[in-house]
Amino acid sequence: SCAMREICTKLENLSQEFELKQARNPIQHIDHRLKKPESIRNKMLQKNLPLEYEVMRDEITDIGGIRVICSYINDIYAISNMLKQQDDLLIVREKDYISNPKKNGYRSYHLIVAIPIFLSSDKQIIPVEIQMRTMAMDFWASLEHQLRYKSTASVSDSTRMRLTNIAEDIFNADMEMQQIYEEIIAME
Ligand code: GTP
Ligand code: MG
Repeated sequence: SCAMREICTKLENLSQEFELKQARNPIQHIDHRLKKPESIRNKMLQKNLPLEYEVMRDEITDIGGIRVICSYINDIYAISNMLKQQDDLLIVREKDYISNPKKNGYRSYHLIVAIPIFLSSDKQIIPVEIQMRTMAMDFWASLEHQLRYKSTASVSDSTRMRLTNIAEDIFNADMEMQQIYEEIIAME
């Protein structure tokens, strides 16, 4: 939670700077959550990991999770580049599911960063998962996540296909909105 708080502060600082200095804020909102012990345990069992503290610390990189909802696709890459330039952050992993969507159509940009946390007697480097997506991608991912938990295995191929098609439509809408935005600012 310390690491997550530090990263949230970094993102809030950027957001505040945009509010003060830019014509618009690319960050719509920021959510965060801490993975529950029960979920950490389930994930470790799923991955066949022994339930040991050191293993958890090294293998489970999304105990602290932050979600940044942006206006346009390009905003996501811009924010990501700003984080990459912060020299107290270590970039652990980058997964671009926007240019390489998952088979089901899921799109988002995932960044795992690690930050040093200073405690009373030691310094620990703690990972945090940052998911960045547009409002439209968030709409799809939130509902798809809910549907997945509602129905156990009974989702037909055709239903899955419909969900994937919606994800594709949403991506096209995101691209079109980005295009319109760029045309409008070019006229100013
Ligand atoms: P995990 O073991 O779940 O962390 O998977 P991973 O290590 O392959 O990480 P990945 O970057 O693929 O996914 C991490 C997180 O992204 C998940 O916990 C979800 O929050 C989100 N996510 C990934 N795929 C999907 C998806 O198909 N639908 C939705 N709604 N969310 C997804
Ligand atoms: Mg995860």
